[in-house]
Amino acid sequence: MARIGILTGGGDCPGLNAAIRGVIRKAVGVFGHEGVGFRNGWLGVMERETVELDRDAVRGILHRGGTILGSSGINPMREPEGPERIRATLNDLEVDGLVAIGGEGTLGAAAQLAEQGVRVVGIPKTIDNDISGTDYTIGFRTAVQVATDAIDRLHSTAESHNRVMLVEVMGRSTGWIALYAGLAGGADVILIPEHPFDLEEVCASLRRRHMGTSSFSIVVVAEGAKPRDGTFEIPEYPVDRYGWPRMGGIANLIAPEIERETGFETRVITLGHLQRGGTPTAYDRVLATRLGVAAADLAEAGGWGRMVALRGPSMADIPLAEAVAERKLVPEHLYRLAGVFAG
Ligand code: F6P
Repeated sequence: MARIGILTGGGDCPGLNAAIRGVIRKAVGVFGHEGVGFRNGWLGVMERETVELDRDAVRGILHRGGTILGSSGINPMREPEGPERIRATLNDLEVDGLVAIGGEGTLGAAAQLAEQGVRVVGIPKTIDNDISGTDYTIGFRTAVQVATDAIDRLHSTAESHNRVMLVEVMGRSTGWIALYAGLAGGADVILIPEHPFDLEEVCASLRRRHMGTSSFSIVVVAEGAKPRDGTFEIPEYPVDRYGWPRMGGIANLIAPEIERETGFETRVITLGHLQRGGTPTAYDRVLATRLGVAAADLAEAGGWGRMVALRGPSMADIPLAEAVAERKLVPEHLYRLAGVFAG
């Protein structure tokens, strides 16, 4: 019998509990190991804050949002003696291997720790869907559904008042949520970080649309959308303890410009953490369950230093270092597809 540790790190998302349950049901229920949860991501490993995870502990959590373990963005690689403290905890508590459920920060730390010999496997989660090597990350599809529902509702009020509605969604470095929700919700303009925008072009497109039979527009803006160099200045965002910008607010900056340039009344809706809260969709519950079980299998097979992934219909695994080496960007062909419906 072995002792398997689990943690959830970084921004939470719907489906984390389903993944925890998947790991425990396979590792404890099937393989007969012991499960130990660490509270608040890597912080709990450094500070030895644990909770026993047996079958009873994961009952009734499949559909619940958030994470029963808590989460934090603490990165052990950037804290004094972080890696040493991680190793000491695992050693003293006789934890044979770890399952780290996280996005680029959490899995980046996992990759570095794995290089130093820590036995860890990863599960990709983030509503941003920007982890390489997996078709989807846990939480993305739920966030897209929340944003799509919001766009559907905004359509009718935009139309009643002949307004331009700017819907700001999450996506600090990539435009996956903006693109998917924009396509699903029939947005007229979609602004994503991968393609810096020119506000004049955006206004021209809105004017063209309103000269035809349409008198309202929906613009979906990823929080990380950037103006083309030299076209429009956005102030620096405040940063956290590791220098990550705390984003949000780009739509509020560009809305007055759109209103001034076009004369169309413009309103802003920032969806923010609504996209991360609440119950996961059926798709995310199934994805998280599959990834959780696959992670237990990978640990059982000694696949340390690797991350489980969805590839087409199958589960796969890739080196953690490869998964976090580059962000998965929205591909050109999907962006062009959105262009078909612009204006
Ligand atoms: O990384 C996921 C994400 O949802 C980003 O899109 C967003 O910028 C960030 O989390 C916000 O996280 P928090 O407010 O929890 O720091």
